[in-house]
Amino acid sequence: MDYVEQRMAQEAQRADMASAVTTLVTPLNVLLTAIVLYTLYSIFRPTPAPAFPKDPPATVFRTYTPHTLLPFDGQDGKPVFLAVRGRVFDVSSGRNFYGPGGPYENFAGRDASRGLALHSFDEAMLTKDLDGPLDPLEDMTPEMLDAIQGWEERFDSKYLVVGRLVSVADYEKEKKEKA
Ligand code: HEM
Repeated sequence: MDYVEQRMAQEAQRADMASAVTTLVTPLNVLLTAIVLYTLYSIFRPTPAPAFPKDPPATVFRTYTPHTLLPFDGQDGKPVFLAVRGRVFDVSSGRNFYGPGGPYENFAGRDASRGLALHSFDEAMLTKDLDGPLDPLEDMTPEMLDAIQGWEERFDSKYLVVGRLVSVADYEKEKKEKA
């Protein structure tokens, strides 16, 4: 085989290889390779450690007086508490109702029993003297008591009871008894 034939054979072989490469690198093959690679990655990628839901903050049941309940009025992002017949509810999730600027903000940090019974959020419904006895609610009609109970049932179903409300005098008395 002379030199020219040899070169021609070499060139023919190179052309064959080039055409083999172009037949392999088709858009379909590229797509299939991508799918295979992605599937392999999905199967073998490291799985992140399962994230366990965080425990809700522990609820501490405390005894409040009208004074110590007062700061829980939702101002500056603080929780919102209100009391109904001696039970203190954390109504923070109802901040839109009871928080600053809400329609029932007068109830925040206060004993809301009378207001709920009479369906009024007027200031006059709130116990003025924070050092005095709690509202005895002695003048309640059966309808008013029903109304309070209805609210209590609603609050029980959506809010946590975080404490009880007692008068300052009762608080001091209990403290002495414990000492
Ligand atoms: C103009 C009259 C009033 C209107 C239109 C009104 C409207 C509403 C509406 C739409 C809700 C929300 C109900 C829900 O989505 O569950 C609500 C809840 C409530 N309203 Fe009124 N209300 C009015 C008067 C009063 C009054 C006078 C009181 C006083 C006791 C009051 C106390 C409450 C309370 C305690 C809640 C429950 C909020 C909660 O679920 O924590 N509302 N009211």
